[in-house]
Amino acid sequence: MTDKITVLVTGGGGYIGSHAVLALRDGGWPVVVLDDESNSTGVLVPADVPYVKGSIADRALVAATLRDHRIGAIMHFAGSILVAESVTDPLKYYRNNTQASLVLIEEVVAAGIPHFVFSSTAAIYGAPERLPIDEDDPKLPINPYGVSKWMTEQMLADAARPSASSKVHDFNYAALRYFNVAGADPQLRSGQIGRTSTHIVKIATEAALEKRPHVDVFGVDYPTPDGSCIRDYIHVSDLAAAHVAALEKLIERPSENLLLNCGYGTGLSVIEVLDALDTVVQRKVPRVIGPRRPGDPPQLVASNRALVETLDWTPAHADIHRIISDALAWERKLADGTPV
Ligand code: UFG
Repeated sequence: MTDKITVLVTGGGGYIGSHAVLALRDGGWPVVVLDDESNSTGVLVPADVPYVKGSIADRALVAATLRDHRIGAIMHFAGSILVAESVTDPLKYYRNNTQASLVLIEEVVAAGIPHFVFSSTAAIYGAPERLPIDEDDPKLPINPYGVSKWMTEQMLADAARPSASSKVHDFNYAALRYFNVAGADPQLRSGQIGRTSTHIVKIATEAALEKRPHVDVFGVDYPTPDGSCIRDYIHVSDLAAAHVAALEKLIERPSENLLLNCGYGTGLSVIEVLDALDTVVQRKVPRVIGPRRPGDPPQLVASNRALVETLDWTPAHADIHRIISDALAWERKLADGTPV
């Protein structure tokens, strides 16, 4: 049984961070959230979770939060997350992701906090030639979002040399590289909020509830069996559980770091996702075949061998119909105006 240290969740008000908060609390971990509300409102954070409104780039605030709440581990989600925006406003991504993470890491080191779980992304691999993607495959990100996350991983890799040398910092870290995260908490305590999402499952469920007229399919001329892009979709609650399992492993093995792809190792095309939606709602949700979206790699599928073998983690919701029905139930809750 792992000792339950207090975990600071940066970006804990956001979509994935809030699910991590729920998973930690469900596992009995004390949690504190730090969130600047740049992409959330705090409404997804349970009322009894200590909540600090502010930025990870605010050095004094971070130092005070770590000290005042006796933080023993970090889960770091805070950051900017839109690939397309990272192309038009790259410096925002280096500022909010890379530079702000540097401040956080420096304060974590100064406070002597021994464990750090980092929210990384499949975008660090760019458009890989070989599938499924292994953790040691080339890191060739094709947009500033991916570069900003890869730079943070490199800072952690250089700074965290757990117990290996007295000259560098004695903490260990996990970089969890997410593939396509979707769905909602099965108890509907959290899910994706906001109407600006570009994610296919969110958009598809909005279309199913007639919040939008149709779903655009961005290209059916890719070198895939049905011509649409293939992705590896993972349920957000399984991903959140992987964070808790990664933290437990960091505590259990303090001299090791973890680099783990987070996906199911199963590729689904956009057309297959929309077919699954039609099955769930038992009607044909209108789709419009259109041109490619710039920058989309044809296929991204994880090898999750390391995740499965390293962590005490078994996915509980590894089915696209389950992902879609939870996302749909959440979308209905939003449509009903039910207070989240
Ligand atoms: N798509 C459509 N229509 C839409 C939206 C998306 O056809 O309305 C397609 C996209 O073209 C793509 C697929 O659905 O082929 C998945 O697109 P998403 O926008 O849902 O997700 P991405 O794969 O583009 O990106 C996600 C995260 C990124 C992360 C990346 C890594 O949003 O942050 O996965 O795999 F970097």
